[in-house]
Amino acid sequence: MQDAIWLNANIATMRDGSPYGAIHDGVLAVESGRISWVGPRKEWQGQVRVEHDARGAWITPGLVDCHTHLVYAGDRAEEFELRLKGATYEEIARAGGGIVATVRSTRAATEDELLATAQGRLQQWVREGVTVVEVKSGYGLTLEAELRMLRAARRLKGITVRTTFLGAHALPEEYKDRSDEYIRAVCDEMLPAAAHERLVDAVDAFCERIGFSPDQTARVFDTAKRHGLPVKLHADQLSDLGGAALASRYGALSADHLEYSSEMGIKAMAHGGTVAVLLPGAFYFLREKKLPPVDAMRRYRVPIALATDHNPGSSPLSSILLVLNMACTLFGLTPEEALAGVTRNGALALGMQDSHGMLDAGKQADFALWQVKTPAELAYAIGANPCAQVVRAGQIQPIAS
Ligand code: NIG
Ligand code: FE
Repeated sequence: MQDAIWLNANIATMRDGSPYGAIHDGVLAVESGRISWVGPRKEWQGQVRVEHDARGAWITPGLVDCHTHLVYAGDRAEEFELRLKGATYEEIARAGGGIVATVRSTRAATEDELLATAQGRLQQWVREGVTVVEVKSGYGLTLEAELRMLRAARRLKGITVRTTFLGAHALPEEYKDRSDEYIRAVCDEMLPAAAHERLVDAVDAFCERIGFSPDQTARVFDTAKRHGLPVKLHADQLSDLGGAALASRYGALSADHLEYSSEMGIKAMAHGGTVAVLLPGAFYFLREKKLPPVDAMRRYRVPIALATDHNPGSSPLSSILLVLNMACTLFGLTPEEALAGVTRNGALALGMQDSHGMLDAGKQADFALWQVKTPAELAYAIGANPCAQVVRAGQIQPIAS
């Protein structure tokens, strides 16, 4: 006896082999929070406690936002104004603004305050069918404040959370001109303590002229490896420091941004099994011109994931559906590649491919119902939200309007 089925549905399983892995007039069955069967209605047989009529909706896997900085305090609207008057993101960062400005406000916030603001923001993700979100630290930059961010992230409700330690996000003011010393504190104190408290699913760093050097990044990654933690990297966003290749050498789950990555970097990612996470929100909001090498990613068969990169400085973007549209209009992805980027490949970028990202028997029953005629509409529309229902671990989620 199955717990429930959804019928009268078209199902974008996102399995390989056919466009969207589509099943027309399909049935999806759920038992004990997992998908127990998915296939064409005419092949369905079995007994079930509850039948849900999807009324012709499309069902996709629950969406995965694999790169966010959702926990922080304050905003950076003034910095946006400065940039529109001609200052660049890098200039603002070097003048003590940028990430470090958010660090000041985040340090001043309590764990409960950080949780409450992040929880409020998160409603928009759930409304748009997101069931898994990754959340990074990196606006605390002291042991205590980094732990506070991670603890707040782990307390978020209504969504599955993966936390990433990003102590090497920016150099805090008190370490001015002493970046090696700060990296030592990250490696010797902060990361071990966060790992010990079991607050860390992965370790990230910002490898950039205004972030940390490849050498410093490697030290952070070596420490992560010693703790048995997978790594990810903010790589080649504003310049090519060889971040894509560096991440791949460590078998990183993902390298993210990648606008300035070389073809060699992308080739290295293919060897390292590293997912390319594209963040069109940051590209758009920083008014970047250099496009990520999408053709090389396709040629070397590097899986492409997409994410909001939600943060107050470079991507104050709260819509994963808008990310799909931007990935198509700005980066030339197809709507199917875009949907794969927030399902199958988003899960891969978090190491969650066994349980998430596709609709297949045995996977967690995370899915969303959409009032669309084709799945391409999810990327096509701008500012619409056709999400009709969100199911996580087999449970229909309450959606605040
Ligand atoms: O992913 N690049 C570094 N980190 C963020 C921006 C953080 C900020 O500006 O506050 C990013 O774009
Ligand atoms: Fe980021």
